[in-house]
Formats: sequence, structure tokens, C-alpha cells
Amino acid sequence: MTPKRKPVVGGNWKMHGTLGEAQDLASEVRNRLSSYGAVQTLVFPPFPFLGAVAQRLADSNIGLGAQDLHFEKKGAFTGAVSAEMLTSVGCAWVLVGHSERRHVFGDSDDVVAKKLRAALAAGLKPVLCVGEKLEERKAGDTFAVNRRQLRTALNGLAGDQLQHLVLAYEPVWAIGTGLVATPEQAQEVHADVRAAVAELLGGAFAGAVRIQYGGSVKAETAAGLMAKADVDGLLVGGASLKAEEFAAIVRARA
Ligand code: PGA
Repeated sequence: MTPKRKPVVGGNWKMHGTLGEAQDLASEVRNRLSSYGAVQTLVFPPFPFLGAVAQRLADSNIGLGAQDLHFEKKGAFTGAVSAEMLTSVGCAWVLVGHSERRHVFGDSDDVVAKKLRAALAAGLKPVLCVGEKLEERKAGDTFAVNRRQLRTALNGLAGDQLQHLVLAYEPVWAIGTGLVATPEQAQEVHADVRAAVAELLGGAFAGAVRIQYGGSVKAETAAGLMAKADVDGLLVGGASLKAEEFAAIVRARA
């Protein structure tokens, strides 16, 4: 990655663990990483544990985020969680458009765009995820799919509204499959994502925005991915549930 962009590594805990396990994991992550300032570290616990994890991370340099949000501010939306609820329990960050939201829960590009706007309006820092499915890659549509997802989400927004935006390229075929993209595959898409962002928001914005790679990252693959020019960090699922491995991934940057 380019030195002017500080790497950012996130741990997406998905639907794993109990309250006690989340508290222990948060404390262990803090112990292992709070003195390490070279990389910005984020964790994304399940909704019910956010408040408790916020307490464990209080006054540390580890950022707290939620895995999703609803785009409405409040109302009769059973089971949904608003941006303001997240900020009120100490969340600063939120994942938007994760592939499991898109493909398991059916969030369309338009819903993702609305969620992004709701996050920004509440002052949450968004990690906007994009990524192609295996059949889309096989059909040669990788760049087009990622560009379409980006365009729909960012359309009409200005760079000054997006100063905290982080992007995550997460090929669906690599998530939870053990099939990590090669550093070359990641770099190729990251470079095109950055070019697309330049077209949408200008070259200066594109040069500064950080783009994470996500999909089956492990401690042994982290350094190779992060060594690529346009890979500015990682979004880690399964391997973020073990503090030792997650810390090794955060520290893997050369
Ligand atoms: P994985 O998940 O590391 O378990 O593949 C990555 C993600 O979904 O962010």
C-alpha cells in the first residue's frame, strides 16, 4: 500500500459467540493491539454485545463498529437497528453492503445506498463492501459488478461527506470458503475500484480512500495481500474470532 494511506484492519465477528466470549475477545484484542498504532484496528461484534464491547474498548485506539444498520431513523421495523441506536451504544463505524447482507438477506444496491446515507447522516463511519460472485467473475463481469455496486452507493454524494469512508473489496467466492484471492487478483480489482472512485469523486479523493480486501484472510496470507499497492487493509471474518491470529494479521503489514 501507499504510505500516505494508514492501513485499516477490521474483524467481523458475524453471528458468533456469547456475551462472555465477546467481552473476552474484546479484552484480548485490546491487550494485544492497543499499543500498536501503525494500523487502525476495528472490530464488528454482533448487535447485542456492542455496548459491552464498547466498555471493554473504552479509551483504546480500537474502533467499534456494527455489522449492519437499517436505513430508517425509527418506527415499526421489528428486528431492525437504526444508526442512532448504534451511536448511542458507542459505535463509531458500521459495515454497509456486506455480501451476506446482499446475498443472504437480499439487500439490493438501492437498499445499500440508503443504508450508506443513513450511516453518514448519523455520523457513523461506513465501511462500504462490494464484491462479485463466482459466476460473475467467470463471466468476465468482475469490474462491471464492483463498479455498479460502487456507483449506486456513491451516486450523488460528495467527497466532503465521505471523508471517513473505507471501501472493502470482498469477492463473494472468497468469503468463508477458504479460497483467498491471490494478491494479484486483489490488486487488479482494487486498482479498478480506485479508478472507478476517481471517476465518481475525483482523483484526490480516490488517492486517499482506503480499500480493504476481505475473504478468507489468514495470518499467513495477510502480508502478501497488504504488500500490494492498492490494498490498504483487510476485513477479516473467521480468523478474527481468535485474538492471537487477528493480532498477527493486524501486525502482518511489512
Ligand atoms: P472470512 O469473512 O474471513 O470468514 O472469509 C470475511 C468477511 O466476510 O468479511
